[in-house]
Amino acid sequence: ETPFKKLKDGLLSGTSLEEDAAGFDINENESTVSITVVGASGDLAKKKIFPALFALYYEGCLPEHFTICGYARSKMTDAELRNMVSRTLTCRIDKRENCDEKMEQFLKRCFYHSGQYDSEENFADLDKKLKQHEGRRVSNRLFYLSIPPNIFIDAVKCASVSASSGNGWTRVIVEKPFGRDSESSAALTKSLKQYLAEEQIFRIDHYLGKELVENLSVLRFSNLIFEPLWSRQYIRNVQFIFSEDFGTEGRGGYFDNYGIIRDIMQNHLLQILALFAMETPVSLDAEDIRNEKVKVLRSMRPLQLEDVVVGQYKSHTKGGVTYPAYTDDNTVPKGSLTPTFAAAALFIDNARWDGVPFLMKAGKALHTKSAEIRVQFRHVPGNLYNRNFGTDLDRATNELVIRVQPDEAIYLKINNKVPGLGMRLDRSNLNLLYAARYSKEIPDAYERLLLDAVEGERRLFIRSDELDAAWSLFTPLLKELEEKKVIPEYYPYGSRGPVGAHYLAARYNVRWG
Ligand code: NDP
Ligand code: BG6
Repeated sequence: ETPFKKLKDGLLSGTSLEEDAAGFDINENESTVSITVVGASGDLAKKKIFPALFALYYEGCLPEHFTICGYARSKMTDAELRNMVSRTLTCRIDKRENCDEKMEQFLKRCFYHSGQYDSEENFADLDKKLKQHEGRRVSNRLFYLSIPPNIFIDAVKCASVSASSGNGWTRVIVEKPFGRDSESSAALTKSLKQYLAEEQIFRIDHYLGKELVENLSVLRFSNLIFEPLWSRQYIRNVQFIFSEDFGTEGRGGYFDNYGIIRDIMQNHLLQILALFAMETPVSLDAEDIRNEKVKVLRSMRPLQLEDVVVGQYKSHTKGGVTYPAYTDDNTVPKGSLTPTFAAAALFIDNARWDGVPFLMKAGKALHTKSAEIRVQFRHVPGNLYNRNFGTDLDRATNELVIRVQPDEAIYLKINNKVPGLGMRLDRSNLNLLYAARYSKEIPDAYERLLLDAVEGERRLFIRSDELDAAWSLFTPLLKELEEKKVIPEYYPYGSRGPVGAHYLAARYNVRWG
């Protein structure tokens, strides 16, 4: 007799209560959510997914009845999974608080099932295991595909055929990369749609879950002082900058097949650009927002080779330490031309943004780790104080910086009189530093996105037409780079990247922030 069939005293006395495998009372009118992490033995699951699930549990955001199941080929017992997961859980919410008890309760709700990704039978066994935990509640199921893309479709097929919910919803979170170009992305979408409806597919771009990216719309649409300035009339250029101070360590095999343009620009930076530049949506409804994002992406010019600079990091010795070149990684083919850095100028051909350069820069193994949006405003016409800036008029313009990470902040560079009897101006910052203003820890992007997927909120997930539009901008360029075997400009590990990025910006009268 399975535990959930075991009748409780309550049932014998006429109520409709049973117990599930974890010993919880079952009420048939209740619902439960089962979250299956497919690829649970992997890097992303350990680093991000399980910790995010724990944080949601800690904050009381998960439904009362939930089950988390790890699924992968590796052989593991439930206890071994719990042990693996426990090593990466931290008490993020309040580091001083002892959250051992909560961790223990959370881990009790985590289980493991070993199986192949292409075996309907193995997924049918998973289904049986999940049912033991769900009992006769309405069972909602979320599958998180944290596996390499070549096995996405096998896993989706088996999960949907053998383990989808019989009486509730079934949703699937798909991790990037969503193909390598327009054709492969369309093929992936087509295959996914053989087994799932579009509303069941949650394509994740974790940059959309970052606090300051979510705040972009709030900043624009709920402050009178920004939206009227948000156009070619006042904005000179916009910059989207991503930099990491480490190389592809450990992920060279994956990276070499994609490169920085596909890894960061086509998705993370372009998504931020779309949110930045879109027209006001009709409402905050997911479809209204995504409609506006698609519109702006479709108004953009596909990238031209002459508007792009690519680079690759080379070995560099500093302070007696030698940092490796990209091609020193054993998993990277010798002589690989894959860019680890790229800078690009993009244009939106619509009335709001005509002629405004949107510059992107993304690189690995640079001097710093950060992600920022920089909005440089035009000169004040006939500025009375121009002479205070000498010939360097660029310094006199306002700049709005949205620092996505680290040290989240929004600051506005303004000109200000230096206090005193003379008339000297300097550049000062109106500064909203999150750590100083808000005491609460900022949630990790994966927490927000997982919660949204559980709640069916699609605003921060990528719709298939958005994905098509994004690929059409980059595919011709990517093909040309590969066909012409364009040699990247080599830059030392830990530097500011290729000097070509400065020439590109200068061509559009832009200075990188
Ligand atoms: P891993 O390479 O760690 O793979 C996850 C699991 O999949 C492995 O533990 C392994 O489990 C199984 N697996 C790996 N290779 C194969 C294979 N060739 N055939 C069958 N199964 C395989 O991936 P990550 O955890 O790093 O990433 C998962 C997904 O998330 C990928 O799509 C990745 O592109 C994406 N992603 C990852 C990020 C990261 O920081 N790691 C960031 C953003 C996206 P087992 O052998 O036990 O079955
Ligand atoms: C991933 C890329 O999508 O984003 C990685 O594949 C990159 O190459 C990572 O390191 C950066 O994410 P974050 O949140 O650490 O800035």
